[in-house]
Amino acid sequence: MERNIIITGGAGFIGSHVVRLFVKKYPQYRIINVDKLTYAGNLENLADIEKEPNYVFEKADITDKTAIEAVFEKYKVDGVIHLAAESHVDRSITNPNEFIFTNVIGTATLLNAAVKFWKDNMQGKLFYHISTDEVYGSLDDGGFFTETTSYDPRSPYSASKASSDHLVRAYNNTYKLPVVVSNCSNNYGPNQFPEKLIPLAFNNIKNSKPIPVYGKGENIRDWLYVIDHASAIDTIFHKGKVGDTYNIGGNNEWTNIDLIRLLCKIMDQKLNRPSGESEKLITFVKDRAGHDLRYAIDSSKLQQELAWAPSVTFETGLEKTVEWYLQNSQWLNNIVSGTYEKYYEQQYNSR
Ligand code: NAD
Ligand code: TYD
Repeated sequence: MERNIIITGGAGFIGSHVVRLFVKKYPQYRIINVDKLTYAGNLENLADIEKEPNYVFEKADITDKTAIEAVFEKYKVDGVIHLAAESHVDRSITNPNEFIFTNVIGTATLLNAAVKFWKDNMQGKLFYHISTDEVYGSLDDGGFFTETTSYDPRSPYSASKASSDHLVRAYNNTYKLPVVVSNCSNNYGPNQFPEKLIPLAFNNIKNSKPIPVYGKGENIRDWLYVIDHASAIDTIFHKGKVGDTYNIGGNNEWTNIDLIRLLCKIMDQKLNRPSGESEKLITFVKDRAGHDLRYAIDSSKLQQELAWAPSVTFETGLEKTVEWYLQNSQWLNNIVSGTYEKYYEQQYNSR
């Protein structure tokens, strides 16, 4: 194999799209999916590629030094694309320690392993850390996040991601570890766990249940189709400048309420409901604690220096997403009922 690349969190939402892209596009690379399979990790996401000869799955916790070093040793790893994380803001408010442990200690454990195994020859190695725009805080007074915006994380989730970003850059400075970092806006698309806004609202609309909109629904997010995030990760992994940071986003800001109204409109059409029917399900609920008002990414550096651009408009991406969830109702039902957690046992423990 030309390269041996660990993708952490490959059984999750974004990670599974990155694994699929790399496994299919680069048959000359061995792709090692390292995932603990928390509630958010679902190997069904990768059922279509799990038999490919250049794909392997290693069930491991990124905070487990022994397990991580064993993977580095076994596969002579020369690249890491690090996505494993606790990723849901609401969960970070009720259980911050889990986020600090996974996102900070887990990242440090991976960095330490990379330094240990690569220190004698850093040539051709790369540690690519995937982060979020939420580290920059909330844009209450207009403007956009650029790569030089000061960090101002305001939730336990974003604070833990900011800590991990700092560690990655510190290892680059101190140990000369070749790193690259990207900070992306909100993702949507197939395989997103139905605790996040769009799949949660989809599931509730489909089942004619109330759609919970936090506060007045005026918070703004900048949405990017997950396939476009995966293509940006591919571009940055191969063409990004070592030591640099790239912001990823689609210039696509929506207030939550406008987004939900658009989703309701698409769902009315797809489910043959009278126009306006799904909107009646919108229910304003108590706001999230410390709810950031607005995120918006300036991705011109990535677009100009590395010639990346998003491939779909939001309207097209959202429609594709709705179609995917409608066609894959079993995937969603397995999650809602909890049976997806048995997939690993059936597929892997019996071998
Ligand atoms: P996700 O919650 O869907 O998936 C996370 C994956 O990490 C799961 O497969 C889970 O099993 C795995 N994982 C968690 N803890 C682990 C541990 N200790 N050891 C090994 N594996 C572990 O997350 P996602 O939405 O796909 O996000 C992936 C990455 O992208 C995260 O780092 C997140 O911060 C970042 N990100 C997400 C978004 C977004 O909108 N979802 C936007 C920007 C950046
Ligand atoms: P979310 O998908 O949790 O992503 P993030 O908090 O990382 O941006 O939420 C997106 C937006 O939707 C955010 O402003 C919170 C809001 N939201 C709701 O209004 N209702 C919900 O049920 C959820 C999960 C989120």
